Order: sequence, then C-alpha cells, then structure tokens
Amino acid sequence: MTTTTDLPLLLLGQGADPASERGVDCPGDLPPASDPALVARARAAKEALGDSVFVLGHHYQRDEVIQFADVTGDSFKLARDAAARPQAPYIVFCGVHFMAESADILTGADQKVILPDLAAGCSMADMATFDQVEDCWDALADAGIADRVVPVTYMNSSADIKGFVGRHGGVVCTSSNAKRALDWAFAQGEQVLFLPDQHLGRNTAVLEMGLSLDDCVVYNPRRPSGGLTREQLQNAKMILWQGHCSVHGRFSKAAVDEVRERVPGVNVLVHPECRHEVVNAADLVGSTEYIIKALDAAEPGSSWAIGTELNLVKRLANAHPDKNVMFLDKAVCFCSTMNRIDLPHLVWALESLVRGEVPNQITVDAETAHYAKVALDQMLALP
Ligand code: 13P
Ligand code: SF4
Repeated sequence: MTTTTDLPLLLLGQGADPASERGVDCPGDLPPASDPALVARARAAKEALGDSVFVLGHHYQRDEVIQFADVTGDSFKLARDAAARPQAPYIVFCGVHFMAESADILTGADQKVILPDLAAGCSMADMATFDQVEDCWDALADAGIADRVVPVTYMNSSADIKGFVGRHGGVVCTSSNAKRALDWAFAQGEQVLFLPDQHLGRNTAVLEMGLSLDDCVVYNPRRPSGGLTREQLQNAKMILWQGHCSVHGRFSKAAVDEVRERVPGVNVLVHPECRHEVVNAADLVGSTEYIIKALDAAEPGSSWAIGTELNLVKRLANAHPDKNVMFLDKAVCFCSTMNRIDLPHLVWALESLVRGEVPNQITVDAETAHYAKVALDQMLALP
C-alpha cells in the first residue's frame, strides 16, 4: 500500500501539476482585462468560427463569459449536451477541468475540447487522487468487502477516478441524479463507496434513500484503512470519501437561522453539496438546474435565500426583479476556479482558434477514457 501525502499547494496559474486538477501555466498573450473591445473581439471571433465552435457554459460562470455560451447547464446537462454538435471540431468548455475531461470522453474522436484557462480546476476533485482510491479499494479488499461494494463517483472527479469506477462496475452521478445512481448501485451490490463529496453522498442517502446517519462512515484517505475499523467498513451501507466543495461547504446552519429571522416567509433553497445540517434546515434542495427552475416557477413577491455559487445567485436576482432573491451566507464567495475563466481567457481561446491554433486542449488517454465512458454511459442510461 502506498502512503499518501498532502498535495503541495500551487499558486493558480503558475507551475505545472499534471497529476492534479489545478495549477498549470497559461501559455500565450492574454488580452488585458481593461481592453474595452473584449466583448466585440469575442463576438467577432465567434462569428468568424461559425458552426465550427460550440461553446458550453456551466451556470457558475461569470456573466461576461456566459453571454457567449451556445448552451448553459449544470454538470449533467452539459455532459449530455457535449455531444450535441458532432459536426463542430472545437468545443470550448467554460467550466472546470473535470467537466472538460468528461466532454472529451463523450465527444467524437475528431472533436477537440478546449478549456480557456488550465488553472480552472476543482478543489473537491483534487481531494480524491487515483492512488488514494486504489489504496482505499485495497483496504476494502482487506476487510473482505470489495466484491460487495459498488463505487459511485460524483461527476466532480478526475477522469482517472471515473475510469477506476468504470473498471469496478460502478457509475458516475451528478447532483441531479444522485438518488437514481444510488438506487442502481444498491441493486448491483450491498454497499456503496461514494467519491469524492461526502455531503452529496450523505444528503442523498439520508434524505432521499431513507438510510440513517449511522449507515454512513467517512473514509479519510490520509489515514490507514481510512481511519476505520474492519467492522465499521463491513457494517456501513455508505462509505463516504472525506471530500467536500470548498464553496458549498462554507454555508452554515446559523445563516439559515439568521435569514429566517430577518426575512419572514423566506424560502431557503440550497445545493446538495452543502453540509447535512444546512440541507436539513433548508426548505428545498437541488442541483443548479433545479434551483433555476424553482426560481422560474416561484410566485412574484416571494423571498428566496439561495445557497449555491454567487455568480448564479446574482444572475437569478437580476433575472427575477419581481422576487426577493438573496445569497444565503455572507461568509461565502465565488468559486475561485470557475472564475478563472474570464473574458480575456475566452477571447484568447477563440482568437487562437481563428488563427488555426488549438490552445489548452484537454485530452484523456484512450484506456482511461474507455473505462470512464463505461461509468458515464451508465449514468446517462439511468432510468
Ligand atoms: P451541478 O452542476 O451538478 O449542480 O454541480 C455544481 C458544482 O459544484 C459544479 O462544480
Ligand atoms: Fe469544485 Fe465546488 Fe467550485 Fe464546483 S463550486 S467547481 S465543486 S470547488
């Protein structure tokens, strides 16, 4: 069994760490953010590229970027839509690294996926490395349970981890289909190893599947056998990886209590990556796509405190001036890696393509892609 150490901290955009989701140099000359012609330049480059480029934008992207997206969506919708334009040779992914990897896996061999800033990783995805997950599987084998555990990985994981899950008969899930993925997994085996977001795993198991908190254990990849005894591993229904989202993990129960006191009748709507006590205290829980639909369907004059990334909440507040839309917690800010994709990087990526250069291409090696696709296809086929 290999020993695992903390990943060295890299400053975003400096140096290179190909084994991690973060921190890779941005080659080329970026236009200055102060250039007043940036919007016109992006528009002109996109027009020049026509149907040869397909721009996908996650809901957490900045407004300045999302205005150029051909399709917007949550992780699930973008994974499904990535293959919607098979004739487009270039897919510019305005999101984070694991999403671009999934797009590369799900699109045609001739299509090239471009991430405008290679430093747009995901801290949650970084919390599960391939070696750590292999060590975990060894620990499950030592406890005599590997053949009855089905691995389920959240979309927010590297292609390596998705490949591992595909190789071991598991499935990928997103925040919009986690319950269906767990229903499927428990039909295949008796226990689930849920990677890498403990909160999505716990919230789905307890609030949607009727399991108890005692059915869940947390596997700490920095401790031998995850810090769990053989009995704990054998008796758990859900073995939750000790990972979390650094944005959603900061919303607090105190903020829910505070907003309820301050705004009578407020609806508290949070993402399932939030901690269990926050989700428990909320009125509604769902993926970003669910949050958008809930606001679309809300009564004029109603009040909404939303616990998800700030770019999306600001956009919802602007889109619904007839509703009182607010951010749930003052202590939480933007997702810094989603925000790495800004207009200068998008302009740089599009103008490079116009010149016939393919910048920041994201590729997944054939073997990893094969097994990751098994787990992604299993997700796309969930009933
Ligand atoms: P969804 O897009 O599945 O709602 O996930 C949110 C998220 O944190 C993406 O990084
Ligand atoms: Fe990762 Fe959280 Fe940012 Fe999503 S919001 S990309 S899960 S750090």
